[in-house]
Amino acid sequence: MTDTFLRDALAGLTSQPKTLPGKYLWDETGSDLFDRICHSADYYPTAQEMTVLPQVAADVARLVAPGVTVVEFGSGASRKIRTLLDALPEPAAYVAIDISGAYLEAAIQRLSADYPTIPMVPVCADYSKPVQLPRAAGPGGILGFYPGTSIGNFDPHEARLFLERARATLGPSLFLVGADGTTDPERLQRAYGRADGLMAAFHRNILARLNRELGADFDGDKFRHTVRICPDPLRVEAHLVATQPATYRLGDQTIAFASAESIRTDTSHKYPADTFRALAVQSGWQPRALWTAEGGSFNLHLLQSEG
Ligand SMILES: C[S@@+](CC[C@H](N)C(=O)[O-])C[C@H]1O[C@@H](n2cnc3c(N)ncnc32)[C@H](O)[C@@H]1O
Repeated sequence: MTDTFLRDALAGLTSQPKTLPGKYLWDETGSDLFDRICHSADYYPTAQEMTVLPQVAADVARLVAPGVTVVEFGSGASRKIRTLLDALPEPAAYVAIDISGAYLEAAIQRLSADYPTIPMVPVCADYSKPVQLPRAAGPGGILGFYPGTSIGNFDPHEARLFLERARATLGPSLFLVGADGTTDPERLQRAYGRADGLMAAFHRNILARLNRELGADFDGDKFRHTVRICPDPLRVEAHLVATQPATYRLGDQTIAFASAESIRTDTSHKYPADTFRALAVQSGWQPRALWTAEGGSFNLHLLQSEG
């Protein structure tokens, strides 16, 4: 892991413009900060999704047979899954895939205590690569779950590849996927730029990880967090902007920053319903149903694949 992290970080920080892969935002601190972001008044996606999830869960429960195995990609604090587990008829198991290993284990322990009859299977893996399920599906088949706006962290090409890999992972299945189509720049600025002041800490944590895990010497206080709303395709880019010229050490390299030079730490692509559906079809999924949250921009798509 350390070798891959170092290789990826060096590749991103020696390229122009500088970038770091967003998947490295997620260690225990990053996951914890994100859980707090989800509760902030500025971060609309979670609040919007929660207005519609109970209805979605009730509708999906009518479509699946008893004994379904639920597989969540990027399970985080495993909060939203509770709404599904409460509604589904006798779920056979819950498989939670996440890259943030320690946080995943703790979330599954909490969930197991509340759902002692449902077997829980944590899988610490990177879903930007192929993932194999550790157990066979239950008698009710497989329901994939990818809530939130995580699909937006992929550009359209990567999102298509993710959806193809998910088909390979899940086999014949239903797949419930969240996708946000918000275009209002003020709302995007508040959610991604501020989130009650938590977003800056969330993005600066990636520099703390470089220092702690790879022995780098970045000074997080000398970077300002900012977001850029970019068109074609619509996306929100998160950047850490150097407030003064500086050089830092990473591995055997020196990384130089001019004043105002930035590192792009994450991107959130916005996928209106039609755009997402087209991507899903190109990846071999059949759209089965669509629910739109109150407020009108956050969608949950139910997809189906014969395998
Ligand atoms: C935006 S959070 C969503 C958490 C939760 N599903 C929700 O909707 O509130 C994204 C989650 O995906 C995980 N994640 C991000 N990139 C990942 C990757 N490449 N492979 C596996 N998990 C990843 C993070 O650790 C985090 O828990």
